Amino acid sequence: VKDPRRIVAAKRDGETLAPVDIEAFVGAYARGEISDALAAAFLMACLLRGMDASETLALTRTMVASGDTVSFRGLDRPTVDKHSTGGVADGVTLVFAPVAAALGLAVAKLSGRGLGHTGGTLDKLESIPGLRTDLSPSQIERQVASVGCAIAAQSPTLVPADGAVYALRDATATVPSVPLIAASVMSKKLAVETDLILLDVKTGSGAFMKTTAEAEALVRACLELARGWGRSAAAAVTDMSQPLGDAVGNALDVAEAVEVLRGAQRGRLRRLTVLFAARALETLHGIAHEEASAAAERSLDEGTALDRFRRMVEAQGGDPRVADDPWSVLPRAPVRMPIQPDRGGVLSAVDAEEIGLASNALGAGRVRKGDPVDPAVGIVLRPKVGERLEAGEQVGEVHARSEAEGTEAVRRVLGALTVGDDPVQPPPLVHEWYG
Ligand code: URA
Repeated sequence: VKDPRRIVAAKRDGETLAPVDIEAFVGAYARGEISDALAAAFLMACLLRGMDASETLALTRTMVASGDTVSFRGLDRPTVDKHSTGGVADGVTLVFAPVAAALGLAVAKLSGRGLGHTGGTLDKLESIPGLRTDLSPSQIERQVASVGCAIAAQSPTLVPADGAVYALRDATATVPSVPLIAASVMSKKLAVETDLILLDVKTGSGAFMKTTAEAEALVRACLELARGWGRSAAAAVTDMSQPLGDAVGNALDVAEAVEVLRGAQRGRLRRLTVLFAARALETLHGIAHEEASAAAERSLDEGTALDRFRRMVEAQGGDPRVADDPWSVLPRAPVRMPIQPDRGGVLSAVDAEEIGLASNALGAGRVRKGDPVDPAVGIVLRPKVGERLEAGEQVGEVHARSEAEGTEAVRRVLGALTVGDDPVQPPPLVHEWYG
């Protein structure tokens, strides 16, 4: 067999790797036969040198083939999967899955953990006491049939190669790469045979793709993989130039998702979730856009989505009281400090990546591979771009383990806000749909 260092050296020197070499290297890493050090060098070489379509395909195929696949033959409802490329206060999945289930669709989804400055759906869900995400393929199939939705993790039986590479990328600054993100996202979608894949490709300060041009390149890479597998997929490039919702952390995101599911919180997180749910209904049930949107809105206002969320949490071993009174079960941080800008004016820009990093520094994300995350800490920040702030007004709060960490996070959040005098148009929620 080839010395794996030769594969890394070839990529380092800008060569295009043969599919067999990518399969051998990544397969061996997933089996624990290659060190983290060598794999990190491989990932950095891929990030810096890029990967072409054939290399991206080989990486994706290796990841899918590293585990089993999940299928839903015989289910009486169409199935849909949705995935975000990563954002800040991006709790769409937590709301989308139960909404779509309430609308008569089945949602089966493999999610990820926190990655770089972004939060991960699995880390958020696991802040609910007892909740498990390490579901087997047959558990996913059964839960989707009975509840209508399941959110699970990569595991030794499901895309383990993505699980291994994902955790290493988080710890080695090797996240923001079109081919690495496309292979990671799509391997999890291709391992679960749904009728429709919806991709939320983020762009802006809190995304990995900072410009719409880069986001479009990621859309192309993902849709090409879907086409190659004969799977139906659509993608939206959506705004991540500011946190989508108000909560950045883990338990805080779950509490916010419950507020949206109760119909109590309006705003951009709800609007984007409704757009994705409506798109799924339009495509899979042939329902017109207005009617589909109205049905999604009703599921939030009438509690049917919240009921699916409660059942999903319970089916995955979590305390279902989270759906009725989140803070009776979610962990709370000992220190809470207000965020108060010292200057009034119009919020004109937010460095959402900095806010994600500030939340991670509080303990909501990992520094080293395999670190535990602190479920309780994080940041709540309410104003959105274009809104007026008053000097000294409380615009949110930091939830921290200690005063010192809280003070530092407040400082970082305030430094991430640009306040000006002129009116500013809020950014569009969706830039463009593809597919
Ligand atoms: N989501 C994933 O699953 N993988 C990535 O690389 C980025 C976002």
